[in-house]
Amino acid sequence: MLAAGRGRRMGGAKHLRPLAGVPLAERVVRALLRTSAARVRLVLAPDDAAGRALATRIGVAALAAEDPDEGRAASVRAAVRAAASDSRGALFALADQPFLEPDDFERLFDAFRAEPGAIVRAEYGGEPGSPVLFPADCFAELLLLRGREGGRSLVERRRERVRLVSLPPEHGRDLDAPEDWPAESAPLPSAAHMERTFSIVKPDAVRGRKLGAILEAIEASGLTIVATKMVQLDQPKAEGFYAVHKERPFFKDLVKFMTSGPVLVSVLEGDDAVARYRKLMGATDPAKADAGTLRKRFATNIEQNAVHGSDSPDNAQTEIAYFFSATELVKR
Ligand code: CMP
Repeated sequence: MLAAGRGRRMGGAKHLRPLAGVPLAERVVRALLRTSAARVRLVLAPDDAAGRALATRIGVAALAAEDPDEGRAASVRAAVRAAASDSRGALFALADQPFLEPDDFERLFDAFRAEPGAIVRAEYGGEPGSPVLFPADCFAELLLLRGREGGRSLVERRRERVRLVSLPPEHGRDLDAPEDWPAESAPLPSAAHMERTFSIVKPDAVRGRKLGAILEAIEASGLTIVATKMVQLDQPKAEGFYAVHKERPFFKDLVKFMTSGPVLVSVLEGDDAVARYRKLMGATDPAKADAGTLRKRFATNIEQNAVHGSDSPDNAQTEIAYFFSATELVKR
């Protein structure tokens, strides 16, 4: 999500300007967090402390554009450089399109999945526009962009690879100048504050037949289950999931435990889902967990601790994509 522009026509910091109480950049990031994108990154001007604070608050990683005065190319390059080596492509969303819905972005991702070599571009009432999704084999050329050009020149050179996806024109509206700004009563895009988190009911709790009680507690907490399945992890899958812990002394044992029997992986949705699920789970170590929490009730010890939940919306996005495809998540 590109938000490094100086917003001169808006008198500065357009991406932080609230629309119906929610800053533009936050609206767009939250919409992206409800899609099947594996990672969401917020590209900011290097001196944008308020933008970084926003990224921290909503739980996504921020990147600094190399030179914010250069124009869009510097942001595109920062995003491409930060893309994971296994990334199949990158979609460039803009802070000044705050009316795009998760479903709109998902339709672009669907078109890309249907034809992985395509450059996928939104179109509104027959006019091509933003966002644009570039496949990874365009990354080298994106890194050569300079100045204000953004990806447009590349789109023009690769016209035969461009696939247009028609989106509702009212969703694609951009807020460029103060006169575009709608009245404060403008409705939020649906579920702008909705968040997703990823849950595992671990082998100890599945073996102990605690699944029903744990799902009941999740539902009673107000979180909504939008995907769930039972899986048996093998060693590479468990090691990949816990890769951040691979240097820790408990890593080997953790992988052994996580592959010792089936687990239930789920996606939970709700306002503030990440923090709410963490509160419901309680501290990692059940000895320190509050009364009534899942770990206090069902965990054996710090390793066999019954449940896992994502620690940030950013990680939730990655963890969900590690286990679920977009079509496995339902709308409720
Ligand atoms: P989880 O929330 O899934 O994230 C990492 C897991 O590593 C954690 O739950 C525990 O199962 C395990 N873990 C964390 N700290 C320790 C520890 N000190 N000793 C053993 N296992 C741990």
